[in-house]
Amino acid sequence: MKIKVAIPYTGKEEYKSIKKIVFSGKFVSGKLVKKFEENFSKYIGLKSAAAFNSGTASLHAAMNSLNLKKNDEVIIPSISFMSTATAVLHQGCTPIFCDVNLDDYCLNIEDFKKKITRNTKAVIPVHFAGNACKIDEIVKIAKQKKISVIEDCAQAHGTKYKNKKVGSFGDISCFSFYATKHMTTGEGGILCSNKKKLTEKSKIFRNHGLVSRNDHVTLGYNYRMNELAAAMGLEQLKKLDKFNSIRRKNSLYLLKELEKRKSKWFEVQKIDKSIFHTYFWCPLRIINSKISIDDVIKKLKKKNIEIRTRYKFPLYKQRVIQNLKIKSSQNYKKLYLKNSEKIAGRIFGLPNHHKLNKNQLNYIINTVANLYD
Ligand SMILES: Cc1ncc(COP(=O)(O)O)c(C=O)c1O
Repeated sequence: MKIKVAIPYTGKEEYKSIKKIVFSGKFVSGKLVKKFEENFSKYIGLKSAAAFNSGTASLHAAMNSLNLKKNDEVIIPSISFMSTATAVLHQGCTPIFCDVNLDDYCLNIEDFKKKITRNTKAVIPVHFAGNACKIDEIVKIAKQKKISVIEDCAQAHGTKYKNKKVGSFGDISCFSFYATKHMTTGEGGILCSNKKKLTEKSKIFRNHGLVSRNDHVTLGYNYRMNELAAAMGLEQLKKLDKFNSIRRKNSLYLLKELEKRKSKWFEVQKIDKSIFHTYFWCPLRIINSKISIDDVIKKLKKKNIEIRTRYKFPLYKQRVIQNLKIKSSQNYKKLYLKNSEKIAGRIFGLPNHHKLNKNQLNYIINTVANLYD
């Protein structure tokens, strides 16, 4: 039987809740979105939130709420999902790509400092694959330089740094509830902040710029979360810590056992002791230059193991970035960020979901450890 890389953690609680909405006929602008916003912001440890129909929409709204303008520079890691960059572009700003660390795949602080110019207005650290960036240092530097911090927590619901949830360090934080995430609403997202002004502004932005029935004060979008999604989100939030603890248990077992095997073809992600990792991915990096990711996928597929593979290229190598005609202090065509180039197309995630039993975990360990022996 095929071992899938991810399986959503849903059950009868979500079903019951959604069924009620179906029969109520109240699909939008109801009580549940508000309740979900309250519960989620409380979970992260913040005062307010605004829910969206995707994580990308929440990132775009975050940019807008901070008043970022055309030609403002926003520093982002070059290893992330594309929407970290496209949110910047949708706001008319200029993405400045920063290198990541080779061991934890998160924003490299030294390169971040180098990339700050007088045009820099914000930074978007990505808590990659359930790991946490050195977010206290990033916030400290950002404060000194008077730039805003938008935490991209799309892959890190419940992750902690020094005992505090990620998403509660910067000015604003954004989460995704896409199907494979730690918790899901099918599609969805949320933005959290202690600055109510920012979340209130984002609520107007997500609803066509409306402040009252016929008064559109600003350019907006339809980025609203619906009640069905919120109903699901409320139930999923109750299960999040349990789901995370299973992912952690499975991932820690896989990684510990794999490290013991001392295989030469991969290395495991380095986790700092101050981090409570939630393992969106259970990540490994290919370190043997003769082995390609496509070959790993093919070989594991034959053994019925599905893996997560993304980020085949650093973001700046994507055609959408290469073909940009915007003013930027970075020449995207010539850009070469050493660690990002080493990581792109070399990392993959092992299955770590709640349906895996010990036999399957051991099968994954043995298969991966012996794949190139
Ligand atoms: C790091 C990161 N940022 C943003 C997003 C965007 O979230 P969504 O797919 O909900 O728009 C994702 C989604 O995978 C992501 O991984």
